[in-house]
Amino acid sequence: MLDGPILSALTAAIPLFKAVHVAALLVWAGGLIALPLMLSRHDPAVSAEDYAIIRRSTHLSYTLFVTPAAVIAIIAGTWLIFLREVFTPWLYAKLAFVALLVVVHAWVGFILAKVAEKPGEHTPPAPWLPIMAILLPVIAILVLVLGKPTFGWLTFPEWLSEPRGRQLLFDVPSR
Ligand code: HEM
Repeated sequence: MLDGPILSALTAAIPLFKAVHVAALLVWAGGLIALPLMLSRHDPAVSAEDYAIIRRSTHLSYTLFVTPAAVIAIIAGTWLIFLREVFTPWLYAKLAFVALLVVVHAWVGFILAKVAEKPGEHTPPAPWLPIMAILLPVIAILVLVLGKPTFGWLTFPEWLSEPRGRQLLFDVPSR
């Protein structure tokens, strides 16, 4: 377990974790919105060179910037859960929407791969479709994280909120 100077250094670094988190999620969400717009320039009428530029730039943006930014946002966010000790209903609701955002991220990657790497004609979906799919979880996440609603009406059953003190099915070290 962390204690003493390491814990106080990490606690002092919370603003840094938050800055990294917010910067990374800006690149993540902004990139996910930009990619379908970039792909919508992918028109069979454009020249072969333009087509290659669009394919290369969307592929590089996704693999070099958007996906690493997602990983950094999630790692910094996970640190923040424990440093800020937010084990609250809004956080769990936010994580459900983050899971949705990850699914949309994978979908955008799938569209890019199909357009860029698979032979044959592939028409990407109209950009508003993935953009709406991105905006929905992003706006829900921002409402939850900035409003921090208490969900006072929500009560969790005791088996979800109290340690059960039961033995695992296998032996575990004593410490
Ligand atoms: C697995 C992914 C994520 C985790 C674990 C996570 C977790 C957290 C935690 C614990 C905080 C600190 C809250 C506090 O200090 O009270 C935070 C702050 C924040 N998160 Fe996330 N987050 C994730 C993804 C996202 C995404 C995708 C967005 C937006 C699209 C987002 C937006 C924000 C914002 C704006 C803040 C600053 C809020 C404030 O300080 O009041 N997070 N996040």
